[in-house]
Order: sequence, then structure tokens, then C-alpha cells
Amino acid sequence: MSNFIRNAWYVACYAEDIGEALFARRLLDEPVLLYRKEDGTPVAMLDRCPHRFAYLSKGRRIGDEVECIYHGLRFGADGGCTRSPYHESPPANIAVATFPVVERWGMIWIWMGDAALADPDLVPDHSHLEAEDMHTAHIHYTFQGNWQLGNDNLLDLTHLFWLHANSIGGYKDEAGPAPGEVYTAKQVGDEVHSTTLTPNVTKPSAVPNRLPEGEPYDQWNDTIWRAPADIRFFIHASPVGQREGSIPYMTQSHIMTPETATSTHYYSPVARSWDKDPAKDEGWTSFFKAIFDAEDGPMMADVEEQMAGRDLMEMRPVVLPRDRAAILARRTVARILAAERGETEIAEAAE
Ligand code: FES
Ligand SMILES: [Fe+2]
Repeated sequence: MSNFIRNAWYVACYAEDIGEALFARRLLDEPVLLYRKEDGTPVAMLDRCPHRFAYLSKGRRIGDEVECIYHGLRFGADGGCTRSPYHESPPANIAVATFPVVERWGMIWIWMGDAALADPDLVPDHSHLEAEDMHTAHIHYTFQGNWQLGNDNLLDLTHLFWLHANSIGGYKDEAGPAPGEVYTAKQVGDEVHSTTLTPNVTKPSAVPNRLPEGEPYDQWNDTIWRAPADIRFFIHASPVGQREGSIPYMTQSHIMTPETATSTHYYSPVARSWDKDPAKDEGWTSFFKAIFDAEDGPMMADVEEQMAGRDLMEMRPVVLPRDRAAILARRTVARILAAERGETEIAEAAE
């Protein structure tokens, strides 16, 4: 059984990924076709012709409609058949499933559960990507592992000191958390909030952090997770002891959308407060992508292989202190999945 949460907004692609061309992407183990109508409105439908199951994305655009390349059925953006070469008028019972979509924060969000529940107000807030004094660049990764491994990876940043020791994590004198580092993680409703604070850092910042160089500073990151796999990450620095009112010098979104049960699309828009010239985007995105593809991605593929489809918690993993946020997230996901399967109601009825 898949472990996908159905009733949620997922990122299908970045806004710039779609236009006139037919764009295909597998999401929640379903083939999805995305494109923009001539007025720019995004459209998402099942990428499977209901006749002999050709990929509609291999067909052609005719105005706002899509014609199947195999035997010529044509469908409108609402999924209804608009032309059949074999009928005088298009039969009302031939249609393709469509999915609600919303364009927001530079991303196309899709709802693949019960369409009646697809409230655009539930699209997670990623307004930090459009903050006035920041510039955002888009990164899309994939990894060969279950989507929850992405939550585990991003909610336990101690892996920076080990997995990334020779790339982004190798900035400490000795491997491991710095002396005095403070970590907190707590459940806040359906969200998990965690913070890692390193006070009185004397090493120069790896990137410009809004502070004059040469002074010690406090550095911390706030992570806000919500189900299924939606993380907002805010990185701050302030003069020592003056953390109140700080604004982040870098923010990131980390959003996972299952491709299949064992592969995942990972969208990571990064907003930076320095080097805001878009011409610098390529340098920054390829920097992050090279690290992920060489270090995190292969690690998650290894873990997936070891798990072989089993549930992580059922394998009784060792739990370390810094696993708190990841464990809270896994518990939240388990609770939502059980509710979607109707298990909560069954459990309550049995009490
Ligand atoms: S498969 Fe599409 S018209 Fe036959
Ligand atoms: Fe990492």
C-alpha cells in the first residue's frame, strides 16, 4: 500500500516549467499532464487517454485542447471530450480526470485527493520567497527513496557535520555540533517547529550574513515543517545576544512530492539576501545541486534499499537526541494517513 497523503496541496512543478508545451510528470504514482491555457491559466489532468491509455502528453495542443496521438480523441482543459472522429458529437461519457491547481510562490500546486476539499487557502505559506530584499532561485532535485526520507534528512541537520563534512558542513574545528549549540523541537498543532542556535560564532560566515565581517555573532536556523513534506527554513545571524527582531539572511523551502513510493521530486527554492543579480542564480543552484546529488541523494537511495519497502519505525531504528523533529513529523504523518484510511473512526468506534 502506498503511504501517500492524498488530501494535500503538493508542488507539481515550478511556474516556469509549464507553458504552451505539454509537460509530463509522475506524481503520487500517477501520470500527470500539465500545461497553460492560452490565457496563462495552469491545467493538470491525468496523462492517460481513456481509450487505449496513450500518454496525452505525447499528443498535440490545439488551442486550449489536447488531441491524443493514437486515435485522435480530443479533450478540453476541463477533461471533457470535445471531439471524437468516430461520433457525430463528442460523447458526454468520455472524459479524463483533472486535478485542481493553484499557482503561488513561483510554484504550481496540485491537489490529487478529494477535489471537494481542495481549498486554495490551504496552500502552504511560502511568502518568504517573495520577500522584498531577497532574491529567489529554483532548484529541483529527485532522489531514489520514499518521500518521508526527505523529511528525515532535512529535519536532522547533524548530518551536515558528517555527510557534508567536506562540502557545506566542514566549517567547524571538530566534527559534530559546536559547544553551546542549542537544539529545540516541538509539535505546534499539525506543525513541527525546530531551532538550532549556535551562539558566539567566531568563524567567518560561509556566505554574507548581513553583519559586518570580523565580529563574533549568533547564528541559528528555524525550521517549520508541515505535512506531508513541506519545510520552511530560515537562517539568521545577529550580533551576540541581540537576536530579537533579526531578519533571515537566507531562507529556503524544501518541499517533497512523491513520484512513486520509492522516488521523490524535491523542490527547493532558495532566497538569498546577497548576490541578488539573477545572473548569479546558476552558480548558486549548481552549487547546491552538486552537493545534494553527490551526498544526500545517494544516501537516501542506500537507506531506501536497506528498508526495502518496510516502515522505518517498524524496523525499530536507534533514536538519537537530534531525531526529535523527524520523529514528531513521522508521528504526524502516521496520524494523518490513518485518518485518511478511516482508521481513526474505526479505532474510536471500537473504544
Ligand atoms: S488511445 Fe487515445 S484515442 Fe485511442
Ligand atoms: Fe543534506
